[in-house]
Amino acid sequence: MRVDGQDFRTIWGQGDDVAVIDQTRLPHAFEIATLRSLDDAARAISDMVVRGAPLIGATGAYGMALAMRDDPSDAALAAAFDTLLATRPTAVNLRWALERMRARLAEAPRSERAAAAYDEAQAIADEDAAMCSAIGDHGALLIDEIAAKRRGRVNILTHCNAGWLATVDWGTALSPVYKAHRRGVDLHVWVDETRPRNQGASLTAWELGQEGVPHTVIVDNAGGHLMQHGEVDLVIVGSDRTTRSGDVCNKIGTYLKALAAHDNGVPFYVALPASTVDWRISDGVRDVPIEQRSPREVTHMTGATADGRIETVRLTPQGSAAANYAFDVTPARLVTGLITERGVCAASERGLSGLFPGQAEAA
Ligand code: MRU
Repeated sequence: MRVDGQDFRTIWGQGDDVAVIDQTRLPHAFEIATLRSLDDAARAISDMVVRGAPLIGATGAYGMALAMRDDPSDAALAAAFDTLLATRPTAVNLRWALERMRARLAEAPRSERAAAAYDEAQAIADEDAAMCSAIGDHGALLIDEIAAKRRGRVNILTHCNAGWLATVDWGTALSPVYKAHRRGVDLHVWVDETRPRNQGASLTAWELGQEGVPHTVIVDNAGGHLMQHGEVDLVIVGSDRTTRSGDVCNKIGTYLKALAAHDNGVPFYVALPASTVDWRISDGVRDVPIEQRSPREVTHMTGATADGRIETVRLTPQGSAAANYAFDVTPARLVTGLITERGVCAASERGLSGLFPGQAEAA
């Protein structure tokens, strides 16, 4: 996607190293960070220099390649897998990518492991970009349908950042928005700020601005009010892990948006590639591990001052405890449909198995 008119992906091989967009600096500065080692890759994921389920997976894959460049032994392969898997627990794309890398590298002779690892990581990144592009094509048809009925601007609400910054390119929830917008559909996006890290206010708003998509940032609690007043035609969010029965784990607050959408008859879609489906589990509330991050992300906030300095301030009284649950689970019954690279399906085992036959049985 475009940054100041120039095409970028979120991650790419740079010689023997790996380059990523540093998402902790956006929207105030656009900076590229270089990952030179396994530890750099692991830190980039845990510190959220890169974030978003598909991008976490691609970074994990490149992290394995950096590890194999430095030491292609079986022991190093096992250690790299464990180190990267421990960085963030919820998004299943990480495990998916690491398992794929391990399977590919286990069969390669040691002398060829590093080259094979870079090739496989590049393939994972390319496939992610292609899947997200296809998600956009399918999802844009839903926007077209609403535009045809509404005969006016389509208002779409999204939560967190499930745009191209959360993937390798295009995004999941925002890919249909970009495809429809580029075709000239009149649309506008309500952007949930997404406390505590504000991925909506800082990343989604920035992305949409770069593409020229009309948007408005709202506080997380505004969605229900807007839905009651007919100001939301469609909700599209991403997912960090979707169970085979269609329960959707996504950024904290997604569940409340789904409840409000259900109460107001607003379609609630979730966009995700197959790498986000955890075929091994069925009950999302019971079985998805929910990351808890530092309370400091709740008690403090970072932003730019009028003269351009980046500063962090405390919001809460000294001594007040804070809890930071990063994700929640929306039960399948509240999800209108899943938008995947193979098309749109019901949020159910039957719906997913119709598009991805054999996966549930193989898990
Ligand atoms: O904590 P983050 O920023 O990694 O969380 C990201 C999200 O919850 C996204 O909505 C999700 O990964 C889907 S992204 C394509």
